[in-house]
Amino acid sequence: MSNPTLIEEFERAGQGHVFAFYNELAPAARQALLAEATEIDLAEVAELTRTLLAKGASTGLDLVGLAPAPYERRPENGGDSSAWASAKMAGEAALRAGRVAAFTVAGGQGTRLGYDGPKGTFPVTPIKRKTLFQVFAEKIRAAGVRYGRPLHWFIMTSHANHVATETFFKDHGYFGLAPTQVHFFRQGRMPAVTPEGKILLETKGSIAMSPDGHGGSLRALDRSGALDLMEKEGIDILSYFQVDNPLVRGIDPTFIGWHVLRGSEMSSKMVAKAYAGEKVGHFCAQNGRTVVIEYSDLPKSYQEEVDPATGVLRYIAGSIAIHVLDTKFIRRMARGSDSLPFHRADKKIPTIDASGNPVKPDKANGVKFEMFVFDALPFARNPVVIETRREDDFSPVKNAEGLDSPKTCSDDQLRQFVRWFATNGAAVPADATGLPPFAIEVSPLFGYDEDSFAEAWSKISPKPAVSAGLYLE
Ligand code: UD1
Repeated sequence: MSNPTLIEEFERAGQGHVFAFYNELAPAARQALLAEATEIDLAEVAELTRTLLAKGASTGLDLVGLAPAPYERRPENGGDSSAWASAKMAGEAALRAGRVAAFTVAGGQGTRLGYDGPKGTFPVTPIKRKTLFQVFAEKIRAAGVRYGRPLHWFIMTSHANHVATETFFKDHGYFGLAPTQVHFFRQGRMPAVTPEGKILLETKGSIAMSPDGHGGSLRALDRSGALDLMEKEGIDILSYFQVDNPLVRGIDPTFIGWHVLRGSEMSSKMVAKAYAGEKVGHFCAQNGRTVVIEYSDLPKSYQEEVDPATGVLRYIAGSIAIHVLDTKFIRRMARGSDSLPFHRADKKIPTIDASGNPVKPDKANGVKFEMFVFDALPFARNPVVIETRREDDFSPVKNAEGLDSPKTCSDDQLRQFVRWFATNGAAVPADATGLPPFAIEVSPLFGYDEDSFAEAWSKISPKPAVSAGLYLE
């Protein structure tokens, strides 16, 4: 599209102010602004203005017919142990057949952690201070060895952290993975708008753009060519996890097997919420579909509701943002008539006034639009939710201190190592919460889950004493 046409399109859409300072800009700055403008789908912005911003637009959540989502209980909680065993076998077969790839969404800004850099470069392990990316890389490498098929790993970045992320991997030799197996792509962006739907400028020559949410990963997987590559490689199962959770079993044969055996297009793991108000999404059922409702949207009375028969929270199933997706389903969501809805978030957005002077708002002055990946669930055929043990799969680093912080995450890793040792006959002193009085560390290259640890431990002789500073690789 030539420049005048693009500018005219913005004018016709009532967004001509985006180019108010165009004539003042140097040629390179003009090009940069035009490039940003081409990222914007004006029809989409108009539609969002009509549906999410207009007076009278529905903001409330529809709770009609809402019920807790059914889920597959673990055997120790009454689940069918033979079904779990069959799932594990099916998942292992899928891994050996090379049908699986790993996928990390790493486009978030990590604001709450207060860490300046891609979140995946944050150190998390107790002794070696391995970064989140290194932990995932080693788990993926070890799983590739275990199943005899090196796994591809897709990593979604943002515009802000793409280059830094790629450079980090290059500088660290891709943590032993083949560079041809690791694929980075940027997620999409959306313009921030005023409450009336006018696109906000950040400076005279740039639009206030922000990442389109982890739900943007479905479009980005398609647009980037990642899905084509998977098709070529015979990959039809994508194991999705967030960058903030080093405990995740990113390659979990049992989970993959449930997905395969159920013919599911999108599968999810749940943990029992630790307490009523825990800040996680809630798996719910509505009109025969599975939906996730965020803690910020589900009314408190629902979050706290207790089943009188069992005394247990009714909406107990917390989402830990771990999914397995069918690649054809991703393509359909990216291109077909079904698509993810956007959510609005009212934010303070640095902008400029009509004369081009910077404005630093002290209250929300604009709206950002984001998609959430779990909103794909209602569109998925045969979605299955399985229970997992929190201590095996979930200890995210979200805050600098307190809950879900580097400290709690490091402690949870230590507890996991202690459990693995104890199960395999090497008792380690620990307090009532399972935390040892000293640091130890197990490299994912030695063992990255119960099974791989047990196998590796059984093979070493003589066994080392499990004492302060032990590192197994
Ligand atoms: C998220 C989930 C919540 C779940 C919890 C579990 C949402 C809205 N909520 O909460 O249901 O219980 O995790 O830990 O997701 N990301 C991108 N691009 C973006 C935005 C985020 O790649 O544009 C990635 C981040 O890098 C991160 C993940 O998505 O890996 C989660 O983002 P975050 O905003 O931290 O989610 P939470 O509010 O913690």
